Amino acid sequence: MTRSFPATLWLAVAVAWSTTVTAVSLPDCSTTAPEQATLDHVRTASVNVSDHPFGLVYATKERAAFVILSTTLGVLDTSTFPPSLIRRVALAEAYLSPPGGTSIALTHDGRHVLVITFSTDIVIVNVARLIAGHSNAVVGAINGSTTAGTTAIEVILSSDDECAFVSQEDGTPQTGLNGTIEVFRLNKPTANGSVSGEYVGSLNLMSRFVVGSALSPDGRTLYATSEVRSNTDLRRGTLSVIEVNTLRTNPSQALITRTNAGCEPVRIIVSANKRIVWVTVKESNHHLAFVAGKLATHPDEAFLASIQVETSPVGLTRCACGAAGKLAVVGEIPTGMFSREFARSPDNKTILVSDYGSREVQAIDVSRLPARGGRHGASAWGF
Ligand SMILES: *[C@@H]1O[C@H](CO)[C@@H](O)[C@H](O)[C@H]1NC(C)=O
Ligand SMILES: *[C@@H]1O[C@H](CO)[C@@H](O)[C@H](O)[C@H]1NC(C)=O
Ligand SMILES: *[C@@H]1O[C@H](CO)[C@@H](O)[C@H](O)[C@H]1NC(C)=O
Ligand SMILES: *[C@@H]1O[C@H](CO)[C@@H](O)[C@H](O)[C@H]1NC(C)=O
Ligand SMILES: *[C@@H]1O[C@H](CO)[C@@H](O)[C@H](O)[C@H]1NC(C)=O
Repeated sequence: MTRSFPATLWLAVAVAWSTTVTAVSLPDCSTTAPEQATLDHVRTASVNVSDHPFGLVYATKERAAFVILSTTLGVLDTSTFPPSLIRRVALAEAYLSPPGGTSIALTHDGRHVLVITFSTDIVIVNVARLIAGHSNAVVGAINGSTTAGTTAIEVILSSDDECAFVSQEDGTPQTGLNGTIEVFRLNKPTANGSVSGEYVGSLNLMSRFVVGSALSPDGRTLYATSEVRSNTDLRRGTLSVIEVNTLRTNPSQALITRTNAGCEPVRIIVSANKRIVWVTVKESNHHLAFVAGKLATHPDEAFLASIQVETSPVGLTRCACGAAGKLAVVGEIPTGMFSREFARSPDNKTILVSDYGSREVQAIDVSRLPARGGRHGASAWGF
């Protein structure tokens, strides 16, 4: 869908609601957004990576982060602010088609990253070798199916690291151009470190431009966005709710429910307290909040609130700011062009942003963000 390049990042900070939240309606498509206050004194700095950065993720223990830079994987040393780019490692050429990698996910044990390309395949990279600069860091690759899609945009791992779920944005003529979720099974690493796996199958989400995905904290439910319902219904995107156990073995049967989610919903996160599913809605200029517990059983009652932000929100992450009891935008932090993805440091003090349009990775110190509001004083739900 439309790729707009917003110049600023919004830190929309939603904390909690009082119990008196009244019925709300989903925001329609909109090209306007109100001016917001700039947060002064937030420490931020960028590193030029001379390529369009896309997905990025922190290592768990090492002082490093990884960023997709076209057909290579960049290694960032995060002991400085901003981090420095210390190395670029070529991904397995055979699996790459322009424009290269899109999304990256770290296994829960911190030992591997999975990289997907705007294509069909998964590349598996060993974190220790990547950081040490060994030439054999790429330890495996798994081919997907060309019938489920060739434009992979996001990858996520099951909580046991045994399966990878890949959003195939555009689908193919065989899927009726509906986007899909593809499922891969990963085998345990062999003695020499290689990792193999198998393609399991795919789930057609019966709607177009499948993008963001997130797992529920118990790992049993996968949420996924589709930017639009169909060719003839362009103003309503969907949020799909998928049963992970079924997805792992019998993907085509795993869809539980779908609900409307505004005009081109894209990325998703689940709140730290597990209760809220947040969705950025790119062409509504809003973030939506859904009650996680209702999405599978009462999807029509799950939409809770929306919050207006700047134009074309995409990436989304959590941070500790704002105040309990208030749903509010705290302010904006300037970024480079098209702040596309976020990564949160393991100590939660820094957020990295891939400023795709301006070819920079930006670091933001979120350890001392201002708090505003708090008039309602309800118990904090966290964010
Ligand atoms: C970024 O790095 C590239 C390559 O090293 C260089 O050509 C370019 O001028 C740099 N851009 C900026 C804004 O510093
Ligand atoms: C996987 O895809 C690559 C690149 O298209 C190809 O070279 C390779 O033969 C494929 N492997 C299998 C097992 O199909
Ligand atoms: C690593 O081991 C696997 C399985 O034992 C084997 O198929 C593969 O060829 C080995 N790779 C290397 C680089 O030795
Ligand atoms: C694609 O999704 C639409 C619903 O939006 C559905 O009518 C159509 O049958 C789907 N096509 C295929 C091939 O699944
Ligand atoms: C960072 O935040 C997450 C929740 O968002 C929490 O689970 C984790 O314990 C935090 N880490 C530290 C070091 O505070």
